[in-house]
Amino acid sequence: MKVILTSDHGGVNLRKEIADLLTELNIEFVDTGCDCEGSVDYPDYGIPAAERVANGEFDRGILICGTGIGMSISANKVPGIRAALVHDVFSAKATREHNDSNMLAMGERVIGPGLAREIVQTWLGTEFTAGRHQNRVNKISDYENK
Ligand code: RB5
Repeated sequence: MKVILTSDHGGVNLRKEIADLLTELNIEFVDTGCDCEGSVDYPDYGIPAAERVANGEFDRGILICGTGIGMSISANKVPGIRAALVHDVFSAKATREHNDSNMLAMGERVIGPGLAREIVQTWLGTEFTAGRHQNRVNKISDYENK
């Protein structure tokens, strides 16, 4: 599995924590986040990362900003992206099983590093259930393609 990881200035610290986790898990990843001291604009990081998941260069993407909200809104504008804003382990599992989410968004100002690590491990390790959920995901793709 190849993962793209990115953040704006609001997510730098949590992004570094998640980069460490991906290294520990031996997961191949590219980090395109900012090392900025000043303020940047989250769409400038979230949208290019989402495009690289949508075009198949990466299997999954992890997006971090202050709240995770701006990143998830931005990524979900890219056709083919199902970005889930997640701050609990239950939702991390459910969004993989039910939504086949291909991007995960989290907020550094919302949760701590320990929970974020658990969320990422759960999200990366859970398979899509398909079945009745496939039909629902197909309806999202159909809307994008109409
Ligand atoms: C930056 O201050 C902050 O607005 C951004 O990181 C994010 O939380 C936006 O949704």
